[in-house]
Amino acid sequence: MRFRVRSASFLVRCFGAACLGVMCCALLAAAPEAKSPTPQYDAKGNLLLPADYRDWEFLSAGYGMNYSPGPGSHEMFTNVFVQRWAYQKFLNSGKWPDQSMFVIDQRDAQSKGSINKTGHFQTDLMGLVVETKDSAHNPEQWAYYAFGSDDKTAEAMPKGNPCFACHDAHAAVEHTFVQFYPTLKPVAKKFGTYDEKREQVSDAK
Ligand code: HEC
Repeated sequence: MRFRVRSASFLVRCFGAACLGVMCCALLAAAPEAKSPTPQYDAKGNLLLPADYRDWEFLSAGYGMNYSPGPGSHEMFTNVFVQRWAYQKFLNSGKWPDQSMFVIDQRDAQSKGSINKTGHFQTDLMGLVVETKDSAHNPEQWAYYAFGSDDKTAEAMPKGNPCFACHDAHAAVEHTFVQFYPTLKPVAKKFGTYDEKREQVSDAK
């Protein structure tokens, strides 16, 4: 009998603990949902390639835009993605929240194939470039990474890198080229975060 009573109260306590556990898990799960995914790093501080970036918000595609392929290389498509939560915050403020992350998926371009007669379509992945706004991880807030098509991690470009310099000098909103992203340009203009000067045709490097 006594054993039974004790085991009943034991069960009640177990049930309580289990409920608490479930609640904690729910809270933990809810937190990253609001701000997920965020930049993730390995023990050396190198950025992990976000596996699901193709499911993020698509900002725009460029074709043969001349800033990353070196002279003589053939033209590529560049598809730009940002996390959906960061995109939503931008729509409400015209600014990028901390831990925003941008991925350019660089694709080879092909012209001859199937029924295609003119123009170009996208094929193999050539590489990825990533930009993060992560003040806890980078003293300069904005950091730049280049991944080869098989790389899973990348080291941040060292201080004074050309990525930072060009983005700092020419991007219309903070370090991002919103002048080339048609859904975001009117948003930034509305919130007054858009630098009109950066839209002018320029030969500057
Ligand atoms: C000479 C200028 C220049 C340099 C150098 C440069 N970029 Fe960019 N970057 C651009 C332009 C222009 C765009 C927008 C056009 C596009 O989508 O390609 C852009 C867009 C991006 C984006 C998309 C988000 C955004 O900021 O608009 C990422 C990510 C990016 N660059 C990463 C890099 C990395 C990493 C490097 C260095 C390895 C680099 N860039 C070097 C000019 C530059």
